Amino acid sequence: MRKVRPKSYDYMEMLIGAESSAKQAARAAADQLGLGLISLSSVESGVLRALADLSNAKKIVEIGTLTGLSALALLEGNTVAGLKVWTLEKSPEHAAAASKILETFISDGRCEIVVGDAREKLESLSTSGPFDLVFIDGNKAAYLDYFNWAVRNVRAGGLIVADNVFLSGAVWGDPTEQKFNEKQIGAVRKMNELAFSDKNLKSFFIPTEEGMLVCKKLS
Ligand SMILES: C[S@@+](CC[C@H](N)C(=O)[O-])C[C@H]1O[C@@H](n2cnc3c(N)ncnc32)[C@H](O)[C@@H]1O
Repeated sequence: MRKVRPKSYDYMEMLIGAESSAKQAARAAADQLGLGLISLSSVESGVLRALADLSNAKKIVEIGTLTGLSALALLEGNTVAGLKVWTLEKSPEHAAAASKILETFISDGRCEIVVGDAREKLESLSTSGPFDLVFIDGNKAAYLDYFNWAVRNVRAGGLIVADNVFLSGAVWGDPTEQKFNEKQIGAVRKMNELAFSDKNLKSFFIPTEEGMLVCKKLS
């Protein structure tokens, strides 16, 4: 989600260069839905991909597909053997747009879009685990539930990554233009606290525009 744009992002994006045509199509599709600003920026998608690469992630769950931008970050050019990305999306409209963008990866079995409420769908997905990486970018009010599921279903040494963990400053009480409700703020605050109080997790923040939380499950 992009709201504040530090100048450093312009500089980094200039060096990162143009995104792939598929990513550009994902952004155009999100724009058409009026949701162009909630996909990961190219800097953030690069961070997500680096975390997947550095952890040699094969089995990945993403919560919040939108039009497939962040799924593409995980899939494009990824040559890890046995790669599979399950991406969960509640909106049939978003899932339909993403299925066009991710068509190549869906047809060769490296990607599956799971349509429905993530909290319900995650329970049945557990049988395909344990997973190497879980990326949380769905309903903010459900972040704590997603996180607890991820802690149970990530392998020892695996990663949990969550985006928007600052909620534009709402987690520390700054008023924001975006209206986050108490349920959303409470869920994200509790998740952040748990990430640093659970002794079985080694956690750190990446201070991106919206804040990214990364947790490694120790055992
Ligand atoms: C911030 S967007 C995801 C952006 C995407 N990861 C990207 O970078 O392109 C959040 C998505 O989560 C979906 N979503 C919201 N509530 C959900 C739920 N309960 N279960 C699954 N998906 C949900 C929204 O429809 C939206 O498409």
